[in-house]
Amino acid sequence: MDIIRTKADLRNRVNSWRSAGETVALTPTMGAIHEGHLSLVRLGLERADRCVGTIFVNPRQFGPNEDFATYPRDEDGDFAKFETAGCSAVYAPGPEEIYAPGYKTEVIVHDISEVMEGASRPGFFTGVATVVSKLLIQAMPDIAIFGEKDYQQLAVIKTMARDLDLPMEILGAPTVREADGLALSSRNAYLSTDERQIAPALHAAIVAAAAAVQSGIAPAVAAEQARKAVLAAGFQQVDYIDIRDQDSFETATDPGENLRIFAAAKLGSCRLIDNIGI
Ligand code: PAJ
Repeated sequence: MDIIRTKADLRNRVNSWRSAGETVALTPTMGAIHEGHLSLVRLGLERADRCVGTIFVNPRQFGPNEDFATYPRDEDGDFAKFETAGCSAVYAPGPEEIYAPGYKTEVIVHDISEVMEGASRPGFFTGVATVVSKLLIQAMPDIAIFGEKDYQQLAVIKTMARDLDLPMEILGAPTVREADGLALSSRNAYLSTDERQIAPALHAAIVAAAAAVQSGIAPAVAAEQARKAVLAAGFQQVDYIDIRDQDSFETATDPGENLRIFAAAKLGSCRLIDNIGI
């Protein structure tokens, strides 16, 4: 597996595969690679001849009081995992390769990035849309794969790629979970042993709320029950539990088609997010 540090080398590598008639998938990550990330690589290799994993802890998507400095980093371990999963290359650029001195441009996706994660984390989706548009333009893959674990992020990226005429397919991949339902996340490493026992309550609460909506309970009532269940389980704060249309992100007023339940809550120093389709 090639370890690529510059956009020039990345372009050369992708172009050489392209001229040999091969297709290329890209799986952007911030590292601390786990089975959720590797499921994206495997899906990429089902859909394309080559897969390139990327690792870049993007400073522009962290708020001033967030965990940029302490975000888990393990480059060598990550390279080994990407290689075992079948990546042909990993792109791990330094910060100057993404944000050169004097960098001034941002990509803002309106409306769908203003609710939920966007409301809780101002600037987050602008940081994500900016770095992902750059990674896509630097690599020019045929397909790029993102997890439904971050469903709103996936929607923001699909919208950004469509609006900017980026000529690659954006594909979503299902959420990989622990046996007890907890969605895999690099940030789960922050959970203490006791918190790890409590953590699956978030998924359990949204599963119960989804079932309640399916049985005809009003979305607002089901979401409120889930909020109470998450706090009763030991979470300190619920940022949101919302039931929305999964395309428009409009709040659902009645049980119906195309709904999804989204949740974010704090447990100790860890902020967990999850979502499932109803
Ligand atoms: P990161 O949190 O490292 O996640 C990288 C990709 O893995 C994202 O598409 C995310 O949705 C997916 N992923 C994470 N946990 C998953 C799980 N349990 N199951 C399936 N997929 C999962 O998301 C980011 O990085 C960044 O915002 C990024 C898009 C790389 C831009 O910096």
